[in-house]
Amino acid sequence: KVYSDYFFDEPVFDLHDGGYVPLSLPDVPEKPLTIPAVLQPDRVEGNDVWYTVTARAGETQILPGVKTKTWGYNADLLGTTIVLKDGVHYHVHIENQLPEVTTLHWHGLNVPGPITDGGPHAPVYPGKSRDIDFTLDQPAQTDWIHPHPCPNTARQVWNGLAAAVVVQDEIESQLPFPRNYGVDDIPVILQDRTYHENQLDYEADYDVDGTLGKYPLVNGTINGVFQVTTQRVRLRILNGADRREFRLHFGDQHQFTQIGSDGGILPAPVHLTKLMLTAAERAEVIVDFGEYKPGDRVQLFSDDVPLMTFEIGTFAPDDTVLPEHLVDIADWQPTSGLAIEKTVMSGMDDEVRLDGKLFDMQRIDRKQKLGDVVDWEVTNTNEMDGGMIHPFHMHGCHFLVLSRNGQAPYPNEHGFKDVVGVNAGETVKIRVLFDVPGVFMYHCHILEHEDTGMMAQIEAYDPDHPQTYHLLSMDEM
Ligand code: C2O
Ligand code: CU
Ligand code: CU
Repeated sequence: KVYSDYFFDEPVFDLHDGGYVPLSLPDVPEKPLTIPAVLQPDRVEGNDVWYTVTARAGETQILPGVKTKTWGYNADLLGTTIVLKDGVHYHVHIENQLPEVTTLHWHGLNVPGPITDGGPHAPVYPGKSRDIDFTLDQPAQTDWIHPHPCPNTARQVWNGLAAAVVVQDEIESQLPFPRNYGVDDIPVILQDRTYHENQLDYEADYDVDGTLGKYPLVNGTINGVFQVTTQRVRLRILNGADRREFRLHFGDQHQFTQIGSDGGILPAPVHLTKLMLTAAERAEVIVDFGEYKPGDRVQLFSDDVPLMTFEIGTFAPDDTVLPEHLVDIADWQPTSGLAIEKTVMSGMDDEVRLDGKLFDMQRIDRKQKLGDVVDWEVTNTNEMDGGMIHPFHMHGCHFLVLSRNGQAPYPNEHGFKDVVGVNAGETVKIRVLFDVPGVFMYHCHILEHEDTGMMAQIEAYDPDHPQTYHLLSMDEM
């Protein structure tokens, strides 16, 4: 079966929003798609690996003419891709060379909160550094790093801070997937920006409901071209936008296969011609270019705007057939005797609230015991008419999507996720398990909603090892 549907409710797509900024491709020459370099370790000793991640300012040739001032991780813009392996002990030295406080959040890594995880309680002050370490214990997936200082996440991401994280494990490495980074396995980081005489101006473009930009960027490139040199190419797609939804399809409706989502490989491949990603969602897809001939060009679109071009070269035939079953998904059964956790995302503009409240860094909003499997109902109370999708994200864990308004989840939501787009008027039921302790954020991933305060904190605790957390206040950021 091939799905040709975005699945989400059309009346609440972002293009119906009053402040919608349509995408357009500026009249600029094509250039090679930027493929971020892979971050090299400072040191490797047995099972221990040391990295340095530096948040810094730089300059990038994005449009013709003067270069754009941008921010990045070990790079002028975005950042170097970090490849991590399940089971390895990582030591990360985080340096802040920016003129303001930032944090380094590992979106999708199940590492302890609130410090290692890099939320707002882990500030790295300008000119200073912080050292963290963790042993990775999770399946292969595509994650990302981004800043999380309260309330400046949206602006810092807008300025360029975001990079892909590739997690590898023993199971994924046995599957017949392309995995030659930069050749047949590439990050596709989707964003949108507006430039003012080639410079970013977050205040000028700010929208409290989520800042949108005019031009689409893929890995920081406008009008990028990727040379296809293998029949199959694996795209690790990340919606890295502050707010925009990307509704992806190829210009000729070429079919592709989704093999992974936020929390890892899907139980079975899903064949699609259209794919919608809300803010911070990821999808790994395999595109088979076997039916094209050298010189053909295929464009990836969002709605009716091309984002980038694949230029077909010569390649050896590849007749790999994906297995119908990819990975086993743990069969979590809810811990008996526990009530359903209910959380409500309400409002739009500066009225957005989570459970009727604004974020307070010193308030722990709820607790969940480590190892408990708890069902949550996540409700978006917006009206279907004139409302919007709020992408709900949790730190420190992954969850399973059980249902949407009592109906089956979308066909590509059968794996673990950490972001789920909740339609207006919808209740999404998810199944949540924490296996690392800490105080963790959960929030709407429209970054301006998060910064406004559509965010709360949960403590994942071990009753046998109670911990006390020193929670910072906003003034200490
Ligand atoms: Cu992408 Cu609170 O995170
Ligand atoms: Cu996160
Ligand atoms: Cu929201």
